[in-house]
Amino acid sequence: MKHLATALLVVILALVFSAPCVASTAVQAIEAHKHLGVASCSNSVCHGASQPFRDSNVLQNEFAVWQEFDPHAKAWQTLGSQASRDIARKLGIGDPAEAKICLDCHADSIAVEKRGDRFQISDGVGCESCHGGSELWLNAHADRSVTHADNLKNGMYPTDDPVARARLCLSCHMGTNDRMITHRIMGAGHPRLSFELDTFTWLHPHYKIGEAWTKRKGQWNGVRDWAVGQGVAAVNLLDLVEDEKAGWKGIFPELVMFDCHACHKLMSGNQWGPRPGTGLGPGVVRLNDANMLMFRHVLAPVDKAAASRIGEQIRALHKATTESRSATMAAASRLRASIESLLPTVSAFNYGPESLDLILSSIQADAERGEYRDYASAEQVAMAAQSVVVAFENDGKVDAEKASQLRARLDALYAVIKDENSWSVQKFKSALAALRSAAP
Ligand code: HEC
Ligand code: HEC
Ligand code: HEC
Ligand code: HEC
Repeated sequence: MKHLATALLVVILALVFSAPCVASTAVQAIEAHKHLGVASCSNSVCHGASQPFRDSNVLQNEFAVWQEFDPHAKAWQTLGSQASRDIARKLGIGDPAEAKICLDCHADSIAVEKRGDRFQISDGVGCESCHGGSELWLNAHADRSVTHADNLKNGMYPTDDPVARARLCLSCHMGTNDRMITHRIMGAGHPRLSFELDTFTWLHPHYKIGEAWTKRKGQWNGVRDWAVGQGVAAVNLLDLVEDEKAGWKGIFPELVMFDCHACHKLMSGNQWGPRPGTGLGPGVVRLNDANMLMFRHVLAPVDKAAASRIGEQIRALHKATTESRSATMAAASRLRASIESLLPTVSAFNYGPESLDLILSSIQADAERGEYRDYASAEQVAMAAQSVVVAFENDGKVDAEKASQLRARLDALYAVIKDENSWSVQKFKSALAALRSAAP
């Protein structure tokens, strides 16, 4: 008995003392230290130069690029728009620019006592929203003798690491239980969220990956980022499914986890068709499995056996959603564990030219089987194809003529899905086949 009590005490003490330093989610890591504000970064000799510095490791004009080109800088201003006021009025939450539920993703909504003197909520999604609270690293990090590892130890967030980056971006671009987006917010008029790590990392960059970067931070590979991003997004969704509080509202599960177009379809009754990967018949609301589907293609060059195992577990999850809540939770938990255990391998894999080909053929085989009937997965396919095309270019596998042909077919693929309310599954399939036939 005494031993048991001692053992229990040890466990409790371990929990108490380890809790403050273990940040288990991206949001917790970002908010672990005081945020000193964008003004602390934007001095002209720091990151506020108007032109890139020539003999520096980093561009030093990051602030100017962020302010001028990056929508994150205007994310808080968005909350003052008519669209935001309409959303807020329908939800009955008062001024959206002061509502925590909106600020969580449209600004740096860290607790008031953790804001430095120069912190301003109007800065929107600022430097420390992604790079972490700079309290402990601001003064030290510009010193050339300080390494990247030193900065990370002082609380800088590892945005260079694809798994950590995906977790961070998804906290706002998909929602997590500490930053939740709900179907009620969507119903009030919020745009549907969609995300792909590689594509989104390069839409408005304030960074350059070159020799100076790889020397300090290691290799960069866009297809790897795509691959990792799919796995982390699938895990993120499964976490919500398994979370009693975030994932369920009243008698319904939180609808944001499902394929939007499974419900938002016309009632003409002739649009339905089977999707072999789900094993479900007509009239069933499907979980949004777009990222899980893509993760199978990720595995095509990495581990074929695992790819088919994941495929079976996805079908089992879909089936479980038609049985019971506990069966759903159990199937989600199994699939989550499988994907999570594959992430280190997927992250370390070298996606050379042969693997690009295997990924494309795996994607196309699914198209032939009729798998991309759901808009969310067609959209993910297009972004995957883009990642692969850019990789072909970077690998020097295509000459200028081939590259422009590939680009044209990629544009054609995107054109088919431009309108989520009127796109054709058949046209998408042909556009994908055309792209595939132009690939080296
Ligand atoms: C704190 C929340 C938050 C985090 C973290 C975050 N974003 Fe965003 N992001 C937003 C919001 C909000 C918008 C929309 C801004 C607006 O238009 O008002 C946005 C917009 C974007 C856009 C523009 C999309 C478009 O259609 O042009 C890109 C690209 C983007 N984010 C990429 C990323 C990437 C990559 C990461 C991770 C490194 C990331 N974001 C992390 C909140 C966030
Ligand atoms: C989970 C994070 C999250 C929450 C919570 C959230 N948003 Fe957003 N919001 C985003 C992201 C991310 C985008 C950009 C989507 C994209 O372009 O891919 C966005 C886009 C928008 C847009 C469209 C902006 C544009 O430039 O077209 C409006 C308006 C908006 N949000 C208002 C709100 C309001 C009002 C609230 C509170 C009720 C809110 N958001 C809550 C993440 C969030
Ligand atoms: C939406 C997330 C996001 C925001 C906001 C953001 N960054 Fe970044 N930043 C990144 C990502 C992703 C990278 C590229 C990966 C890396 O180098 O860690 C990066 C890279 C950098 C780098 C290059 C690091 C290197 O080693 O070459 C600097 C410097 C930087 N950011 C400064 C800033 C400053 C200053 C601000 C605010 C004005 C800012 N960032 C805002 C996500 C963000
Ligand atoms: C299980 C079915 C279901 C799913 C899945 C679903 N919705 Fe809905 N949605 C509804 C219903 C029912 C309403 C109507 C509620 C009402 O009339 O007030 C609605 C309303 C809406 C509205 C308002 C429509 C209007 O006419 O103004 C929007 C926008 C919306 N949903 C977006 C989404 C998005 C985005 C997703 C995916 C993330 C999604 N929905 C997933 C059932 C669903």
